[in-house]
Amino acid sequence: MKNPRHFVSLLDFSGDELRGLIARAIALKQHRDVNYQPLKGQILAMIFEKSSTRTRISFEAGMAHFGGSALFLSPRDTQLGRGEPLHDSAKVISSMVDGIMLRTDRHDTVVTFAEHSSVPVINGLTDQEHPCQLLADMQTYFEVRGDIRGKTVAWIGDGNNMCHSYIHAASAFDFTLHIASPEGYAPQAAIVAAAGGHVQCFDNATAAAAGADLVVTDVWASMGQEQEQQQRVIAFKDYQVNAAVMSRAKADALFMHCLPAHRGEEVSAEVIDGPQSVVFQEAENRLHAQKALLEFLLCKK
Ligand code: CP
Ligand code: NVA
Repeated sequence: MKNPRHFVSLLDFSGDELRGLIARAIALKQHRDVNYQPLKGQILAMIFEKSSTRTRISFEAGMAHFGGSALFLSPRDTQLGRGEPLHDSAKVISSMVDGIMLRTDRHDTVVTFAEHSSVPVINGLTDQEHPCQLLADMQTYFEVRGDIRGKTVAWIGDGNNMCHSYIHAASAFDFTLHIASPEGYAPQAAIVAAAGGHVQCFDNATAAAAGADLVVTDVWASMGQEQEQQQRVIAFKDYQVNAAVMSRAKADALFMHCLPAHRGEEVSAEVIDGPQSVVFQEAENRLHAQKALLEFLLCKK
């Protein structure tokens, strides 16, 4: 494939393309035609440096639904784990498959793969971004409440990979993002600055939640930060999404979390298991949103 499109970042796609993907995801979910196999015979290589439940299953199931197949590759079992250069690996792997999905520690790894791959590369989470999750989150909001344009979203917690992709989504989908994170755990300043007026930063959770249509959080210690767990529990203690925080949002506000969640830390059980929570619809939508993405990137037109 010459100059393949990649999905390394949400902003690799235009706002119109992203809205098109959401509409397509909703249509694919509403009616599954088992005879529709646009990726028959195609193969997606999936490289996982970190654990996954949702990302692995949704990509594997999505490829199977579309008549293709997926290869699960762990660095433990490939030469990647023994230091084969990324650019060589990208050239070799892309010469044998139709698409590559990577979940890596370093964002640079996915960027380098995309530079040297002859087939589309999809970011399945890095330390910096998690764009596939945003497709599912946006699909969920559109399904439950309609267009998110002009709405207010509150991000409470770590300025992590999910937060960065929410910042990108605020620009791409044209909503306002309130961010409340403890000192020292803010999102990257350059990513915030690039979003201009779409992002406002707060130093406490209730202020950020005020008037929100959607409240979102994520774990306090992401994969790879397990050794910081204790210090993070202290730093984030006032940043739990609980009933008091939700009471500041709009009465019909939704709650989302990419999962896995830690009840009693970043979210109380009453919120994540309560009526405003759409976390399981959000999780299922990983499948539908990524099928729309795979169709867009891999279908030979
Ligand atoms: N939300 C998400 O990416 O989940 P997994 O880590 O299970 O893939
Ligand atoms: N921020 C979390 C997201 C997990 C899907 C992590 O990187 O571990």
